[in-house]
Amino acid sequence: MERLMVQGGTRLEGRVAAGGSKNAVLPCMAAALLTDEPVVLHRVPDLRDVRTMAQILERLGVRCERDGSTLTLQCTDPSRSEAPYDLVSTMRASICVLGPLVAARGEARVSMPGGCVFGVRPVDQHLKGLNLLGAELRVDGGYLVSQVRRPLKGADMFLGTRFGSSVLATTNVVMGAVLARGLTCIENAAMEPEVSEACRLLNSMGAHISGVGGHKLLVEGVPRLHGAEHVMSGDRIEAATFLVGGAMTRGDVTVTGVDPTQLTVVLETLSEMGAAVDRGQDWLRVRADGPLRPVDITTMAYPGFPTDLQAQFMTALCVADGISVVTERIFPDRFMHVAELLRLGADIRKEGPQAIVKGVPRLSGAIVMASDLRASAALVLAGLLAEGETEIRRVYHIDRGYERIDERLAALGGRVRREAQPKVESTPLDW
Ligand code: EPZ
Repeated sequence: MERLMVQGGTRLEGRVAAGGSKNAVLPCMAAALLTDEPVVLHRVPDLRDVRTMAQILERLGVRCERDGSTLTLQCTDPSRSEAPYDLVSTMRASICVLGPLVAARGEARVSMPGGCVFGVRPVDQHLKGLNLLGAELRVDGGYLVSQVRRPLKGADMFLGTRFGSSVLATTNVVMGAVLARGLTCIENAAMEPEVSEACRLLNSMGAHISGVGGHKLLVEGVPRLHGAEHVMSGDRIEAATFLVGGAMTRGDVTVTGVDPTQLTVVLETLSEMGAAVDRGQDWLRVRADGPLRPVDITTMAYPGFPTDLQAQFMTALCVADGISVVTERIFPDRFMHVAELLRLGADIRKEGPQAIVKGVPRLSGAIVMASDLRASAALVLAGLLAEGETEIRRVYHIDRGYERIDERLAALGGRVRREAQPKVESTPLDW
């Protein structure tokens, strides 16, 4: 077990390159199940989730070879269609092998993704969409099972939850439809850039998807797909994590290799908070030299404010000059970071899907526990703000989505170090 030790009181300053997008690369890797030719992905980040997806694909007969940040995936054995619990339960995104498996092989046995600290995360829209294509998916022994004749059949559908559209359900169903007979029309499709990127890769593999980037996707099925080569786009969530880190430490941070147009509402929020924002074709710079202003944030589906930045921005608001209200509309229970921020001296009152954040003059270092990927990033940023030293435990969460975050923050002047967590000696009892 490792921990991160963060010494507070330093400004983040300098340039950092964004890594490839985690939430785009995972479904793009699963797309390799749709062809027996090589799919070559460049700028693939070295993350725990990428390794988990590679392990699942290897179990499904896809050879995954890595050379630096290039990943070559090729399906060599389509006879294996079981994605096991021990892997799927560690990463919800594993579910996006379901659509390609049913589409390409007419059979799948994929473990239901387990619970999550955000609360119940159903997969009803994945099942609804794929079953409308004729997948006949059913739950059997904790597995989602399908055994049907290929090809699937195109269908019209509305995909939507009470929270709006679903990112992975959209991508899963698109990958189920690309080899189906006839036309599929998906209404209320998610518009996240990661969905569009997966669609662009599929189109470069010979798929016929139109309406990419919008709420209505049309997928004209084709008999087969071929291999392709693709360069992953920069991770917008990782980039904004560094930028808000720069703002809250009154620093000056430039992130390169990111598409500013994917972060419009985030950049507006930073400006409202009083940070100076400059942008170029593929870079962003954020500077702040005083206390940030309070703002109200409501998370929404893209292009609204991303839920994956809620925790990091809440951290910044903990030391803003006033009261902010943070409303979580996508995962109403996504507030695991609040209890840990309170340990650092923040003043936050949670009421249902809202948190009322009253800015305090300073935070003070403490031992805190990471609970999920974005909460752990928020705690690292909080440690940079806090007086004294902050110890963050269970940092394996952060390695799921941020490559070598300690080294990259250190390169920006942050005093962050990774070390082994000493074993806690239990007190022997002579019972
Ligand atoms: C994707 O998860 C991202 N993960 C999440 O990022 C992100 O938080 C989320 O989209 C929202 O932007 C990946 O791309 C790998 P959803 P996904 O389906 O697709 C409900 C991170 O930190 N819902 O869009 O699983 C669901 O419970 C991760 O990188 C249903 O009710 O999210 C949620 O309330 C965390 N039924 C809402 O919809 C369904 O069948 C949106 O979830 C599917 C979803």
